[in-house]
Amino acid sequence: MNIGIYGGTFNPIHLGHMAAARYAAQALALDLLYLIPDGVPPHKDLGEGAPTPEDRLAMVRLAAESLHLPRGEAAVSDLEQHRAGKSYTVDTLRALHQKFPKDTLWLLMGTDMFLSFHRWREPEEMLRYCGLCAFSRSQWDREELFRAQREFLERTYGARVTTITLPQLVEISSTQLRALLSEEAPGSEDCRGGKFLAPPVYGYILRRRLYGTGEDLTRLPLAKLRPVALSHLKGSRIPHVLGTEDTAAALARRWGADEETARRAALLHDCTKRLSREEQLALCRKYSIDLDEYEKKELKLLHAKTGAAVARAEYGLSEEAASAIRWHTTGKPDMTTLEKILYLADYIEPTRDFCDLRELRRLAFEDLDRATLLGLTMAVRDLQVKGMVLHPNSVRARDYLKGRLA
Ligand SMILES: [Fe+2]
Ligand SMILES: [Fe+2]
Repeated sequence: MNIGIYGGTFNPIHLGHMAAARYAAQALALDLLYLIPDGVPPHKDLGEGAPTPEDRLAMVRLAAESLHLPRGEAAVSDLEQHRAGKSYTVDTLRALHQKFPKDTLWLLMGTDMFLSFHRWREPEEMLRYCGLCAFSRSQWDREELFRAQREFLERTYGARVTTITLPQLVEISSTQLRALLSEEAPGSEDCRGGKFLAPPVYGYILRRRLYGTGEDLTRLPLAKLRPVALSHLKGSRIPHVLGTEDTAAALARRWGADEETARRAALLHDCTKRLSREEQLALCRKYSIDLDEYEKKELKLLHAKTGAAVARAEYGLSEEAASAIRWHTTGKPDMTTLEKILYLADYIEPTRDFCDLRELRRLAFEDLDRATLLGLTMAVRDLQVKGMVLHPNSVRARDYLKGRLA
C-alpha cells in the first residue's frame, strides 16, 4: 500500500492544502492519505486567540470529508495531539512505520519544509521510514535549490525524493487567510476569507468565532448560514441538504411561501443528524424536549425535534421555520404550507434515488396537498415494508389529508 502523510499546523486547513493533497494522492498513487494536524508545533507560536488543537483537528476532519480524492481514502490522525510535549515528525513516522511495517510511506511537504529538511530532528531516522514528496509551485520555483537539496539528501541519507509540480495552486497562505477572515464584517455577506476554505471548514470557523470573525449566530446572512449548516453534517450528507435547500426554495416560489425562510429551514433541517444518541439526549435535556416511546426507540426520529430546538435557539430561526424542521420526518395533521414544503423537499430533492419519485416530483409543483398525501403514503408503506419504526404522526397526517381531499 502507498500511504501519504501530510502534516502541518493547518491553521486553518484551506483549499491550497486540499488541492495539494488531491494532486499528491493521484501522482503518488496513494491508497491512503493521512492528514495530521500538529499538536504543539516545535517552531511555531500560534499566538493569542488561536483555535485550540481540538478546533484544528475538527477542521481537518471536516476538510477530509470534503476532499473527494481522485483515488484512495483520506484519514485524519490525532497522533500528534495526544503526545505529551512538543510534536516531532520523527515520532509520528516511527509510530506509523510500526503500524504499517510493510507499506511504503511518503511524507508530503511544501517547498520551505523540503529545503530545511536536514535541520529537522533526526532526518536520517525519518528517511529510513519514508520517502519525501515535495510540492513545488511551478516548474521554475527555485528549481536550482530544489535540485541541490534533493541531491544532498540522496547522497547523505540515501533518501527517496520525488517532486510534484502543483498545476493549480490556490494562492493563499494561512497568514493571509487569517487576516482576511478577521476583516470580514460580521452580519454582512462579505466572505472574502471564506472563499479560500472548504464550506464546512468556513462554517466551523464562523460557528466557533475563530480568527476574530465574531458573528452573531442568530443573525447570520444566508451566505454565512449555509457554510455553518454544512459544518454540522457528515460530508456525505452535504449534497442532500443543498438539494433540499434548492428544492424548498423552488417550492416556496411556486406556492407563495417566503423563499428565504424556506432556505433557512432546509439548510438546518438535518443539523443534529450526525450526533450520537448521547449527544441527542443531552440536547433534549438542554432544551427540555420530551420524548415519546417511538422517539426513545428510534434515534432517527429524534433529530427533527433537536434540530428544531438548535435552529431556533442557536441560529435564531423563526417559529415557523423551526416548526417545519420539527415535522420534516413524520409530518402531522394540518401542516402549514412551509411544513409541507420542507417535508416534500427533503423527500424529492435531486440526489434522492431510493425509489421512483417521478410522480411525486411532478405533483409537488402541481398540487401541494395531494403531493404531501402521496409522500406520506409512500413513506408509511416504505417503513412498513422495511419493518422500521413507524411514528403514528405519519399515519395521522396521511389520514387527515385523505379525509380532506376525499
Ligand atoms: Fe431529516
Ligand atoms: Fe433530510
